[in-house]
Amino acid sequence: MNALLLALCGFNAHGALRAPVRPSAVSMGPIRAIKRLIGIQKQNFLEANPYWDQSNIPLNTFKNKAPFTGKVLSVKRIVGPAATGETCDIVIKHGGKMPFWEGQSYGVIPPGINPKNGKPNSVRLYSIASSRYGDDMTGKTATLCVRRATYVDPETGKEDPAKKGVCSNFLCDSTPGREISMTGPSGKVMLMPEKDPKTDLIMVATGTGIAPYRGFIRRLFVEKTPAAAAYEGQAWLFLGVANSDSLLYDDEWQAAKRSFPSNFRLDYALSREQNNKSGGKMYIQDKVEEYADEIFAKLENGAHMYFCGLKGMMPGITEMLERVAQSKGISWEEKLEELKKNGQWHVEVY
Ligand SMILES: Cc1cc2nc3c(=O)[nH]c(=O)nc-3n(C[C@H](O)[C@H](O)[C@H](O)COP(=O)(O)OP(=O)(O)OC[C@H]3O[C@@H](n4cnc5c(N)ncnc54)[C@H](O)[C@@H]3O)c2cc1C
Ligand SMILES: *[C@@H]1O[C@H](CO)[C@@H](O)[C@H](O)[C@H]1NC(C)=O
Repeated sequence: MNALLLALCGFNAHGALRAPVRPSAVSMGPIRAIKRLIGIQKQNFLEANPYWDQSNIPLNTFKNKAPFTGKVLSVKRIVGPAATGETCDIVIKHGGKMPFWEGQSYGVIPPGINPKNGKPNSVRLYSIASSRYGDDMTGKTATLCVRRATYVDPETGKEDPAKKGVCSNFLCDSTPGREISMTGPSGKVMLMPEKDPKTDLIMVATGTGIAPYRGFIRRLFVEKTPAAAAYEGQAWLFLGVANSDSLLYDDEWQAAKRSFPSNFRLDYALSREQNNKSGGKMYIQDKVEEYADEIFAKLENGAHMYFCGLKGMMPGITEMLERVAQSKGISWEEKLEELKKNGQWHVEVY
Protein backbone atom coordinates (compact mmCIF):
# COMPACT_ATOMS: atom_id res chain seq x y z
CA MET A 1 0.00 0.00 0.00
CA ASN A 2 1.40 3.40 -0.80
CA ALA A 3 1.66 6.23 1.70
CA LEU A 4 -1.28 8.13 0.28
CA LEU A 5 -3.57 5.17 0.57
CA LEU A 6 -2.35 4.45 4.08
CA ALA A 7 -2.94 8.07 5.04
CA LEU A 8 -6.44 8.02 3.60
CA CYS A 9 -7.18 4.92 5.63
CA GLY A 10 -6.14 6.75 8.80
CA PHE A 11 -2.64 5.34 9.00
CA ASN A 12 0.58 7.28 8.62
CA ALA A 13 3.42 6.09 6.41
CA HIS A 14 4.80 3.91 9.21
CA GLY A 15 1.56 2.06 9.56
CA ALA A 16 0.69 3.58 12.91
CA LEU A 17 -2.87 4.61 13.55
CA ARG A 18 -3.37 8.35 13.27
CA ALA A 19 -5.94 10.44 15.05
CA PRO A 20 -9.12 10.26 13.00
CA VAL A 21 -9.75 13.16 10.69
CA ARG A 22 -12.08 15.52 12.48
CA PRO A 23 -15.23 16.75 10.76
CA SER A 24 -13.85 20.30 10.85
CA ALA A 25 -11.33 19.22 8.18
CA VAL A 26 -14.19 19.62 5.74
CA SER A 27 -14.79 23.24 6.66
CA MET A 28 -11.15 24.37 6.54
CA GLY A 29 -10.84 24.84 2.78
CA PRO A 30 -10.02 22.22 0.16
CA ILE A 31 -6.20 22.53 0.12
CA ARG A 32 -5.72 22.34 3.90
CA ALA A 33 -8.35 19.64 4.14
CA ILE A 34 -6.56 17.52 1.55
CA LYS A 35 -3.17 18.15 3.15
CA ARG A 36 -4.61 17.08 6.44
CA LEU A 37 -6.20 14.02 4.90
CA ILE A 38 -2.97 12.84 3.35
CA GLY A 39 -0.94 13.92 6.35
CA ILE A 40 1.56 16.25 4.70
CA GLN A 41 0.74 19.26 6.82
CA LYS A 42 3.89 20.45 8.53
CA GLN A 43 4.22 21.25 12.21
CA ASN A 44 6.04 24.51 11.65
CA PHE A 45 3.58 27.19 12.71
CA LEU A 46 4.60 27.42 16.38
CA GLU A 47 8.34 27.88 15.95
CA ALA A 48 10.80 30.53 17.10
CA ASN A 49 13.13 32.08 14.58
CA PRO A 50 15.48 30.26 14.36
CA TYR A 51 13.46 27.34 15.65
CA TRP A 52 15.93 26.48 18.44
CA ASP A 53 16.02 29.98 19.92
CA GLN A 54 14.77 29.71 23.51
CA SER A 55 15.09 33.38 24.43
CA ASN A 56 11.36 34.12 24.13
CA ILE A 57 9.72 30.92 25.24
CA PRO A 58 6.34 31.31 26.95
CA LEU A 59 6.72 31.43 30.72
CA ASN A 60 4.05 31.88 33.42
CA THR A 61 1.57 33.37 30.98
CA PHE A 62 -1.20 32.53 33.43
CA LYS A 63 -0.64 32.96 37.15
CA ASN A 64 -2.49 31.83 40.26
CA LYS A 65 -4.47 35.05 40.57
CA ALA A 66 -5.74 34.94 36.97
CA PRO A 67 -5.62 31.32 35.84
CA PHE A 68 -6.64 30.08 32.41
CA THR A 69 -9.76 27.95 32.04
CA GLY A 70 -9.04 24.93 29.90
CA LYS A 71 -11.48 22.21 28.94
CA VAL A 72 -11.00 18.47 29.19
CA LEU A 73 -11.31 16.71 25.84
CA SER A 74 -10.57 13.16 26.97
CA VAL A 75 -9.43 11.08 29.93
CA LYS A 76 -8.07 7.60 29.31
CA ARG A 77 -6.62 4.98 31.62
CA ILE A 78 -3.41 3.97 29.86
CA VAL A 79 -2.13 1.09 31.98
CA GLY A 80 -3.10 -2.57 31.97
CA PRO A 81 -5.07 -4.46 34.62
CA ALA A 82 -1.99 -5.63 36.56
CA ALA A 83 -0.44 -2.14 36.78
CA THR A 84 0.56 -0.73 40.12
CA GLY A 85 -1.80 2.20 40.51
CA GLU A 86 -3.69 4.04 37.83
CA THR A 87 -2.21 6.42 35.29
CA CYS A 88 -4.33 8.52 32.93
CA ASP A 89 -3.72 10.38 29.70
CA ILE A 90 -5.69 13.61 29.83
CA VAL A 91 -6.10 15.86 26.81
CA ILE A 92 -6.98 19.47 27.58
CA LYS A 93 -8.04 22.12 25.11
CA HIS A 94 -6.37 25.49 25.51
CA GLY A 95 -7.47 26.81 22.17
CA GLY A 96 -4.00 28.12 21.31
CA LYS A 97 -4.14 30.60 24.19
CA MET A 98 -1.67 28.82 26.43
CA PRO A 99 1.26 27.89 24.21
CA PHE A 100 4.23 26.04 25.69
CA TRP A 101 7.43 24.29 24.72
CA GLU A 102 8.27 20.63 25.10
CA GLY A 103 9.56 19.94 28.61
CA GLN A 104 7.43 22.60 30.33
CA SER A 105 4.69 22.02 32.88
CA TYR A 106 1.22 23.34 33.49
CA GLY A 107 -0.22 24.06 36.90
CA VAL A 108 -3.69 22.77 37.77
CA ILE A 109 -5.73 24.32 40.57
CA PRO A 110 -8.20 21.69 41.78
CA PRO A 111 -11.60 23.02 42.83
CA GLY A 112 -12.53 23.08 46.49
CA ILE A 113 -11.13 24.19 49.79
CA ASN A 114 -8.19 22.74 51.63
CA PRO A 115 -9.68 21.69 54.99
CA LYS A 116 -6.26 22.11 56.63
CA ASN A 117 -6.22 25.89 56.18
CA GLY A 118 -9.68 26.83 54.92
CA LYS A 119 -8.17 28.32 51.75
CA PRO A 120 -8.82 27.32 48.15
CA ASN A 121 -6.79 24.29 47.07
CA SER A 122 -3.33 25.17 45.85
CA VAL A 123 -1.81 24.58 42.43
CA ARG A 124 -0.14 21.27 41.47
CA LEU A 125 2.32 20.99 38.60
CA TYR A 126 2.11 18.45 35.77
CA SER A 127 4.68 17.96 33.03
CA ILE A 128 3.12 18.38 29.63
CA ALA A 129 3.18 15.08 27.76
CA SER A 130 2.47 16.34 24.25
CA SER A 131 4.52 18.52 21.98
CA ARG A 132 3.59 22.18 21.57
CA TYR A 133 1.37 21.11 18.65
CA GLY A 134 -0.70 18.79 20.85
CA ASP A 135 -1.61 15.25 19.92
CA ASP A 136 -4.01 16.49 17.25
CA MET A 137 -1.25 18.78 15.93
CA THR A 138 -3.46 21.85 15.89
CA GLY A 139 -1.48 23.73 18.54
CA LYS A 140 -4.67 24.01 20.57
CA THR A 141 -4.43 21.11 22.98
CA ALA A 142 -2.03 19.71 25.56
CA THR A 143 -1.78 16.26 27.11
CA LEU A 144 -1.03 15.43 30.73
CA CYS A 145 0.01 12.05 32.08
CA VAL A 146 -1.30 11.81 35.62
CA ARG A 147 -1.00 9.09 38.21
CA ARG A 148 -3.71 8.93 40.83
CA ALA A 149 -2.18 9.52 44.23
CA THR A 150 -3.68 7.08 46.70
CA TYR A 151 -3.03 6.61 50.35
CA VAL A 152 -2.46 3.19 51.80
CA ASP A 153 -2.69 2.94 55.55
CA PRO A 154 0.61 1.41 56.70
CA GLU A 155 -1.10 -0.44 59.54
CA THR A 156 -4.09 -2.00 57.78
CA GLY A 157 -2.48 -2.08 54.31
CA LYS A 158 -5.80 -0.77 52.98
CA GLU A 159 -6.49 2.24 50.85
CA ASP A 160 -7.91 5.19 52.75
CA PRO A 161 -10.01 7.22 50.29
CA ALA A 162 -10.22 10.13 52.75
CA LYS A 163 -6.51 10.71 52.22
CA LYS A 164 -6.29 10.30 48.46
CA GLY A 165 -4.48 12.99 46.44
CA VAL A 166 -6.74 15.94 45.65
CA CYS A 167 -5.61 17.10 42.24
CA SER A 168 -4.57 13.83 40.60
CA ASN A 169 -7.91 12.24 41.49
CA PHE A 170 -9.79 15.33 40.33
CA LEU A 171 -8.00 15.09 36.97
CA CYS A 172 -8.36 11.33 36.52
CA ASP A 173 -12.06 11.51 37.45
CA SER A 174 -12.76 14.38 35.03
CA THR A 175 -14.96 13.82 32.03
CA PRO A 176 -14.95 15.60 28.65
CA GLY A 177 -16.19 19.18 28.91
CA ARG A 178 -14.97 19.62 32.49
CA GLU A 179 -13.39 23.05 33.00
CA ILE A 180 -9.93 23.14 34.51
CA SER A 181 -8.22 26.12 36.18
CA MET A 182 -4.66 26.22 34.93
CA THR A 183 -1.44 28.20 35.41
CA GLY A 184 1.79 28.32 33.47
CA PRO A 185 3.40 27.13 31.36
CA SER A 186 6.37 26.89 33.71
CA GLY A 187 9.87 25.49 33.82
CA LYS A 188 13.00 25.80 31.71
CA VAL A 189 14.98 22.92 33.18
CA MET A 190 13.69 20.25 30.80
CA LEU A 191 13.91 22.04 27.48
CA MET A 192 15.56 20.27 24.54
CA PRO A 193 18.88 21.53 23.20
CA GLU A 194 17.94 22.02 19.56
CA LYS A 195 20.70 24.36 18.44
CA ASP A 196 23.06 21.48 17.64
CA PRO A 197 20.92 18.80 15.96
CA LYS A 198 23.66 16.21 16.50
CA THR A 199 23.20 16.30 20.27
CA ASP A 200 22.43 12.95 21.87
CA LEU A 201 19.65 12.88 24.44
CA ILE A 202 19.56 10.40 27.31
CA MET A 203 16.11 10.47 28.89
CA VAL A 204 15.62 8.64 32.17
CA ALA A 205 12.09 8.32 33.56
CA THR A 206 10.26 6.55 36.32
CA GLY A 207 6.49 6.35 35.90
CA THR A 208 4.86 9.63 34.88
CA GLY A 209 8.36 11.05 34.51
CA ILE A 210 7.87 9.86 30.94
CA ALA A 211 5.66 12.90 30.26
CA PRO A 212 8.21 15.47 29.03
CA TYR A 213 9.98 12.87 26.87
CA ARG A 214 6.76 12.09 25.05
CA GLY A 215 6.78 15.71 23.92
CA PHE A 216 10.43 15.39 22.82
CA ILE A 217 9.83 12.16 20.94
CA ARG A 218 6.75 13.42 19.14
CA ARG A 219 8.65 16.55 18.13
CA LEU A 220 11.67 14.61 16.85
CA PHE A 221 10.12 11.44 15.44
CA VAL A 222 6.41 11.87 14.83
CA GLU A 223 5.78 15.42 13.70
CA LYS A 224 7.10 17.26 10.69
CA THR A 225 8.92 19.95 12.65
CA PRO A 226 12.13 21.79 11.73
CA ALA A 227 13.68 20.06 14.75
CA ALA A 228 12.75 16.64 13.32
CA ALA A 229 14.08 17.51 9.88
CA ALA A 230 17.43 18.54 11.35
CA TYR A 231 17.88 15.86 14.02
CA GLU A 232 20.90 13.61 13.55
CA GLY A 233 21.60 12.61 17.13
CA GLN A 234 20.40 9.67 19.13
CA ALA A 235 17.56 9.95 21.63
CA TRP A 236 17.71 7.17 24.21
CA LEU A 237 14.76 6.54 26.48
CA PHE A 238 15.03 4.62 29.75
CA LEU A 239 11.70 3.96 31.47
CA GLY A 240 11.37 2.32 34.85
CA VAL A 241 8.02 0.97 36.07
CA ALA A 242 6.91 -2.03 38.16
CA ASN A 243 5.71 -4.40 35.44
CA SER A 244 4.79 -4.52 31.77
CA ASP A 245 1.16 -3.60 32.50
CA SER A 246 2.49 -0.36 34.00
CA LEU A 247 4.41 0.68 30.86
CA LEU A 248 3.34 4.04 29.50
CA TYR A 249 2.86 4.73 25.78
CA ASP A 250 4.77 1.56 24.83
CA ASP A 251 3.09 1.38 21.39
CA GLU A 252 4.37 4.86 20.60
CA TRP A 253 7.96 4.04 21.55
CA GLN A 254 7.81 0.82 19.51
CA ALA A 255 6.60 2.83 16.51
CA ALA A 256 9.43 5.37 16.92
CA LYS A 257 11.92 2.50 17.11
CA ARG A 258 10.60 0.95 13.92
CA SER A 259 10.68 4.28 12.06
CA PHE A 260 14.03 5.55 13.37
CA PRO A 261 16.06 2.51 14.45
CA SER A 262 19.35 4.41 14.56
CA ASN A 263 18.08 7.67 16.10
CA PHE A 264 15.80 6.27 18.77
CA ARG A 265 16.70 3.75 21.42
CA LEU A 266 14.58 2.26 24.17
CA ASP A 267 15.30 0.38 27.39
CA TYR A 268 12.90 -0.65 30.11
CA ALA A 269 13.51 -1.49 33.75
CA LEU A 270 10.63 -3.57 35.08
CA SER A 271 11.36 -3.89 38.77
CA ARG A 272 8.91 -6.73 39.45
CA GLU A 273 9.56 -8.70 36.27
CA GLN A 274 13.29 -8.41 35.63
CA ASN A 275 16.34 -9.07 37.74
CA ASN A 276 19.53 -7.06 37.85
CA LYS A 277 23.00 -8.60 37.56
CA SER A 278 23.05 -9.74 41.18
CA GLY A 279 19.54 -11.17 41.08
CA GLY A 280 17.86 -8.21 42.82
CA LYS A 281 14.95 -6.23 41.41
CA MET A 282 15.72 -4.34 38.22
CA TYR A 283 15.50 -0.68 39.14
CA ILE A 284 16.12 2.17 36.75
CA GLN A 285 19.71 2.72 37.96
CA ASP A 286 20.52 -0.95 37.29
CA LYS A 287 19.31 -0.68 33.70
CA VAL A 288 21.24 2.55 33.12
CA GLU A 289 24.33 0.96 34.69
CA GLU A 290 24.28 -1.82 32.08
CA TYR A 291 25.17 0.86 29.54
CA ALA A 292 27.36 2.99 31.81
CA ASP A 293 30.37 2.97 29.45
CA GLU A 294 28.31 4.18 26.51
CA ILE A 295 26.57 6.77 28.62
CA PHE A 296 29.81 8.19 29.99
CA ALA A 297 31.18 8.34 26.44
CA LYS A 298 28.05 10.12 25.21
CA LEU A 299 28.24 12.65 28.04
CA GLU A 300 31.88 13.26 27.20
CA ASN A 301 30.69 13.92 23.66
CA GLY A 302 28.16 16.57 24.76
CA ALA A 303 25.03 14.47 25.29
CA HIS A 304 22.29 15.95 27.46
CA MET A 305 21.00 13.72 30.23
CA TYR A 306 17.50 14.09 31.70
CA PHE A 307 15.88 12.65 34.82
CA CYS A 308 12.19 12.92 35.53
CA GLY A 309 9.84 11.13 37.89
CA LEU A 310 9.68 10.45 41.59
CA LYS A 311 12.29 12.08 43.81
CA GLY A 312 13.17 8.67 45.17
CA MET A 313 14.89 7.72 41.92
CA MET A 314 17.80 10.12 42.32
CA PRO A 315 19.72 8.64 45.28
CA GLY A 316 20.03 5.27 43.51
CA ILE A 317 21.05 6.97 40.27
CA THR A 318 23.64 9.18 41.97
CA GLU A 319 25.10 6.29 43.96
CA MET A 320 25.42 4.25 40.76
CA LEU A 321 27.04 7.08 38.77
CA GLU A 322 29.49 7.78 41.60
CA ARG A 323 30.48 4.13 41.70
CA VAL A 324 30.90 3.89 37.91
CA ALA A 325 32.89 7.14 37.79
CA GLN A 326 35.17 5.89 40.56
CA SER A 327 35.85 2.67 38.62
CA LYS A 328 36.93 4.86 35.71
CA GLY A 329 39.15 7.03 37.88
CA ILE A 330 36.83 10.01 37.44
CA SER A 331 35.64 12.26 40.24
CA TRP A 332 31.84 12.26 39.91
CA GLU A 333 31.63 15.47 41.89
CA GLU A 334 33.80 17.29 39.35
CA LYS A 335 32.15 15.60 36.38
CA LEU A 336 28.69 16.59 37.60
CA GLU A 337 29.82 20.19 38.14
CA GLU A 338 31.09 20.26 34.57
CA LEU A 339 27.87 18.73 33.16
CA LYS A 340 25.77 21.26 35.05
CA LYS A 341 27.94 24.15 33.90
CA ASN A 342 27.57 23.01 30.29
CA GLY A 343 23.78 22.71 30.65
CA GLN A 344 23.99 18.96 29.93
CA TRP A 345 22.30 17.90 33.18
CA HIS A 346 18.52 18.20 33.59
CA VAL A 347 16.65 17.00 36.66
CA GLU A 348 12.96 17.43 37.41
CA VAL A 349 11.79 15.13 40.15
CA TYR A 350 8.83 15.41 42.52
C1 LIG B 1 7.59 19.91 38.18
C2 LIG B 1 6.59 18.85 38.54
C3 LIG B 1 6.06 18.05 37.56
C4 LIG B 1 5.13 17.06 37.87
N1 LIG B 1 4.64 16.28 36.89
C5 LIG B 1 3.75 15.30 37.16
C6 LIG B 1 3.23 14.47 36.13
O1 LIG B 1 3.58 14.62 34.94
N2 LIG B 1 2.34 13.50 36.48
C7 LIG B 1 1.95 13.31 37.78
O2 LIG B 1 1.12 12.41 38.02
N3 LIG B 1 2.44 14.08 38.78
C8 LIG B 1 3.31 15.08 38.50
N4 LIG B 1 3.79 15.87 39.52
C9 LIG B 1 3.26 15.67 40.89
C10 LIG B 1 1.97 16.49 41.07
O3 LIG B 1 2.28 17.87 41.05
C11 LIG B 1 1.25 16.22 42.40
O4 LIG B 1 2.17 16.39 43.44
C12 LIG B 1 0.64 14.84 42.49
O5 LIG B 1 -0.33 14.64 41.45
C13 LIG B 1 -0.09 14.65 43.83
O6 LIG B 1 -1.00 15.70 43.98
P1 LIG B 1 -2.45 15.44 44.59
O7 LIG B 1 -3.14 16.77 44.69
O8 LIG B 1 -3.15 14.36 43.88
O9 LIG B 1 -2.12 14.93 46.04
P2 LIG B 1 -2.15 15.78 47.39
O10 LIG B 1 -3.56 16.03 47.78
O11 LIG B 1 -1.25 16.96 47.24
O12 LIG B 1 -1.51 14.75 48.41
C14 LIG B 1 -0.14 14.39 48.30
C15 LIG B 1 0.05 12.99 48.87
O13 LIG B 1 -0.28 12.98 50.25
C16 LIG B 1 -1.17 11.89 50.53
N5 LIG B 1 -2.04 12.33 51.66
C17 LIG B 1 -3.16 13.07 51.65
N6 LIG B 1 -3.65 13.23 52.88
C18 LIG B 1 -2.84 12.59 53.72
C19 LIG B 1 -2.79 12.40 55.13
N7 LIG B 1 -3.72 12.93 55.94
N8 LIG B 1 -1.76 11.68 55.65
C20 LIG B 1 -0.82 11.15 54.86
N9 LIG B 1 -0.80 11.30 53.51
C21 LIG B 1 -1.79 12.01 52.96
C22 LIG B 1 -1.94 11.69 49.26
O14 LIG B 1 -2.47 10.39 49.14
C23 LIG B 1 -0.87 11.95 48.21
O15 LIG B 1 -0.12 10.78 47.94
C24 LIG B 1 4.73 16.86 39.22
C25 LIG B 1 5.29 17.68 40.22
C26 LIG B 1 6.19 18.65 39.89
C27 LIG B 1 6.76 19.51 40.99
C1 LIG C 1 20.85 -5.30 42.19
O1 LIG C 1 19.99 -5.52 43.27
C2 LIG C 1 20.63 -5.72 44.52
C3 LIG C 1 19.55 -6.10 45.55
O2 LIG C 1 18.53 -5.14 45.57
C4 LIG C 1 21.40 -4.46 44.90
O3 LIG C 1 22.08 -4.65 46.14
C5 LIG C 1 22.41 -4.14 43.79
O4 LIG C 1 23.05 -2.91 44.08
C6 LIG C 1 21.67 -4.03 42.47
N1 LIG C 1 22.55 -3.67 41.36
C7 LIG C 1 23.50 -4.45 40.81
C8 LIG C 1 24.19 -3.92 39.63
O5 LIG C 1 23.79 -5.52 41.26
